[in-house]
Amino acid sequence: MDMIAPPQEVATERFFQDVAAGLSAASKSLPCKYFYDQRGSQLFDQICELDAYYVTRTEMQIMQSFAAEMAAELSQTETLVELGSGSSVKTRLLLDQMDRLAVYAPVDISGEHLYQTAIALKRAYPHLDIAPQSADFTQPISLPEHLPQDGVAAYFPGSTIGNFEPDEAVKLMQAIATTCGPGGELLIGVDLAKPEEVLLNAYDDPQQITAAFNLNLLRRINQELEGNFDLSQFRHMAIFNAEASRMELYLESLVEQTVSVGEHEFQFSAGERILTEYSHKYSIAQFTDLAAAAGFTIEASWTDDREYFAVMLLRVLGR
Ligand code: TRP
Repeated sequence: MDMIAPPQEVATERFFQDVAAGLSAASKSLPCKYFYDQRGSQLFDQICELDAYYVTRTEMQIMQSFAAEMAAELSQTETLVELGSGSSVKTRLLLDQMDRLAVYAPVDISGEHLYQTAIALKRAYPHLDIAPQSADFTQPISLPEHLPQDGVAAYFPGSTIGNFEPDEAVKLMQAIATTCGPGGELLIGVDLAKPEEVLLNAYDDPQQITAAFNLNLLRRINQELEGNFDLSQFRHMAIFNAEASRMELYLESLVEQTVSVGEHEFQFSAGERILTEYSHKYSIAQFTDLAAAAGFTIEASWTDDREYFAVMLLRVLGR
């Protein structure tokens, strides 16, 4: 099994550029894709186990109930590309049911985690060509050349699409449409709007796992970019922005301080925040409009009893 991955120096340089740009801006921010180093991926797996984090459990229930129906809709699919595959837990439910599938191509930014997952998948699904790609899926994805050109479907679970601002989400889905080609399909997980208390609890759990996950980003900067963030001088913060229907995750500086990253210095005032993630919560109707703007029609959608989450099957317009 070959894994496609960018050279480490290129990835580190990019990481540095993004961090420097984000911390130099008038409103500081850091891209959420950098959460997922080896430790971040493990912490995220722990978040997914939390009672308060309804997202993964609800999506998993939907997959358990309807994977057979989904696989029936995807019955012509020979290649399944997954964006942000993490531990591929939900995907197994699909792989178990997709009879014509020949290739599974998981794409994830966390190379080591991806590789371990891919080895386990190869063991469980020996008949499949497992083609892992360690990549940032917001950049164009180059699939292995020997893949069949027809019957390409994408799987994008976890409501990761919600972590993009709507205009960015449209651009990303347009890129996915290009990857899948005309008539191609996208099975996507979308977190739905729900009461604020439920959201606040999900993104700020009492066990502080979410806080550790958010703060891990600073630890990673220290480790990989020679930073000197003092993690005890920042706190995790989760806010619901009702107008934009999104959770906003921040790291707040507890004191006035100067932090260096390599040769660069960044000033923080007491109470100043670094935005680390948005997590948009849609209605089915809103998401249908967003998908249409990216060139998709809705073929089917599945939800849970409380309508906390939806898994939607979209088709690229044009065939
Ligand atoms: N994609 C996940 C989400 O939006 C990521 C996530 C869960 C997250 N909890 C978090 C990101 C806490 C930052 C902080 O639900």
